Amino acid sequence: MAVYIVLLGPPGAGKGTQAEKISEAYHLTHVSTGDLFRENIRENTELGKKAREYTDNGLLVPDEVTIAMVEDRLKKDDCKNGALLDGFPRTIKQAEALDKMLEESFASKVTVVPCIEVNEEDLVKRISGRRMCKNGHVFHIHTKPSKVEGVCDICGEPLYQRADDNEETVQTRLNAYKESTEKLIDYYGNKDVIRKVDGNQKIDEVTKAMLAVIKAEI
Ligand code: AP5
Ligand code: MG
Repeated sequence: MAVYIVLLGPPGAGKGTQAEKISEAYHLTHVSTGDLFRENIRENTELGKKAREYTDNGLLVPDEVTIAMVEDRLKKDDCKNGALLDGFPRTIKQAEALDKMLEESFASKVTVVPCIEVNEEDLVKRISGRRMCKNGHVFHIHTKPSKVEGVCDICGEPLYQRADDNEETVQTRLNAYKESTEKLIDYYGNKDVIRKVDGNQKIDEVTKAMLAVIKAEI
């Protein structure tokens, strides 16, 4: 059966950072809804035009738009063995839609949901120092600097600061997490697939803990 790992955690917790390592270890395609929206915004597609007013202000993009985008993505050939979902689902409605699509279209279900927990004060520090490239590779000016300033170590693309990585928008994003996404901890807890991971450690330590909880379920 295909493997579907859902990464849960507040903005800045390290979902994208850990996804790079987990997708490599398990040869799973990394599907980040945030990266997909940013790509569409950069290319000025219809989807990008719809998403931008929400992402720039730290608000959740409407469920229908997000669910349809993920369903299309999971049908692509590189997801035939499953996927590593980062930033989706973020609402109960999205979680129910994911269960339904996995069952009906892929005869599968969510395998495990590692949930990265980090103190709120550190989340803000992580977000304000983050730099990333257009391919979604993530750096930090203090905790994970690139070898050459402003250039991605992995693909050589320029690094930039995200439009939503400012103090005001971060608060809105944290609120959206508390109001909508945190409910998924109980949703997946009831299915016994949630596994909490201490994200307050160094990146490599978090990776070890993430790989351990995933290995136990695969
Ligand atoms: P998205 O891009 O998913 O943003 P997010 O959830 O706010 O999460 P982040 O990407 O900010 O954090 P992360 O956990 O990936 O942390 P990272 O690894 O980069 O979504 C953006 C927007 O798109 C949303 O606001 C919404 O508008 C829309 N959207 C997306 N999905 C949606 C959905 N399903 N429904 C509706 N709307 C949706 O790490 C952060 C920084 O910390 C980096 O600099 C990193 O180097 C550093 N770092 C990481 N780990 C550590 C560590 N252990 N120690 C020290 N530093 C660390
Ligand atoms: Mg991310």
